[in-house]
Amino acid sequence: MKPQHYFGLVFLTAFVFSQSVTSQIAGTKHDFSGRSWAPAENRMCGVCHTTHNAKNEPSAPLWNHQSTAVVAYTLYNSPTFDTQGGLTITNPSASSKLCLSCHDGTVALENFGNITTGTNYIPAESRIGGVSGNDMSKEHPISFEYTDALATADGGLRAPTTTNSGLGGSIADDMLFASKMECASCHDVHNKYNVPHLLKMSNVNSQLCLTCHRK
Ligand code: HEC
Ligand code: HEC
Ligand code: HEC
Ligand code: HEC
Repeated sequence: MKPQHYFGLVFLTAFVFSQSVTSQIAGTKHDFSGRSWAPAENRMCGVCHTTHNAKNEPSAPLWNHQSTAVVAYTLYNSPTFDTQGGLTITNPSASSKLCLSCHDGTVALENFGNITTGTNYIPAESRIGGVSGNDMSKEHPISFEYTDALATADGGLRAPTTTNSGLGGSIADDMLFASKMECASCHDVHNKYNVPHLLKMSNVNSQLCLTCHRK
């Protein structure tokens, strides 16, 4: 293929991709274009992403939103939580940290790009992490490795590398990030699957839970 054809294909693919992301996100709670706190120009993507001068958050491409103010969260723990036996649960990492930049309520929604003085925060019903935003002990655990070895040790979990997620590949392919559970294991920030609550699949009859849990 001639180089110019190759570049044409790349641009076309990027265009088609962004068009499809737009149509999926449009009308969802992550469509900020009509929010009073978002500037009038199209902010469908810009509250979260930028093309230039991105924030140094490696887990999302070209990240534009101010990072969470929380340094150390209270982490999930329970007597039966098997990862405590060997694997470790860490402070929310990767893309979960990006979700929490809005959802723990410590940073204003419109603090993106160069704005640092916003006054609009996530409404209480969409807030994660309790009143001060740093308590992850009452949320489904995230930011720990979910491996086949954990599934064997637990006995009530399906093996992630060999279990079909129902989304096209295995649980590990479709729901884990560098083998870890994150907010985006259950949610799709861009509403790719068009399921309520921006979920990756419906949770009618606990279908989502039973993808990983065998109870
Ligand atoms: C509410 C915040 C938010 C909005 C709005 C948003 N994104 Fe994203 N985007 C993310 C996060 C977080 C990730 C990291 C990976 C993940 O969780 O899917 C991501 C990942 C991506 C990726 C790379 C991974 C992939 O899914 O292929 C692309 C490309 C992307 N976004 C494009 C867009 C475009 C185009 C728009 C606007 C139509 C948009 N995003 C709107 C938060 C957002
Ligand atoms: C730029 C800020 C921002 C980021 C980053 C962000 N969100 Fe949101 N999210 C919002 C706002 C604002 C709402 C709407 C809140 C409301 O009106 O109650 C929302 C709503 C939601 C909802 C509820 C959807 C519904 O239809 O009920 C879910 C689920 C959600 N976000 C998950 C995520 C996840 C997962 C991530 C990271 C992958 C993320 N969000 C990143 C701002 C953000
Ligand atoms: C194990 C799956 C799972 C994980 C991990 C997860 N969620 Fe959810 N989330 C759900 C389900 C299912 C719902 C649907 C409503 C419910 O059951 O509360 C939901 C609802 C929500 C809502 C809407 C609030 C409401 O009650 O309608 C927000 C916002 C949200 N999640 C954000 C997040 C964020 C941010 C993270 C990471 C810190 C996260 N979720 C991690 C499964 C998950
Ligand atoms: C993508 C996979 C996945 C999905 C989807 C999922 N979970 Fe989990 N869940 C896990 C893993 C892995 C653990 C860690 C288990 C352990 O190490 O003990 C866990 C832990 C838990 C725990 C704590 C267990 C303990 O011993 O402390 C509960 C309760 C739970 N999940 C309920 C749910 C519910 C309810 C849903 C559906 C809304 C759900 N999970 C969806 C993977 C998942």
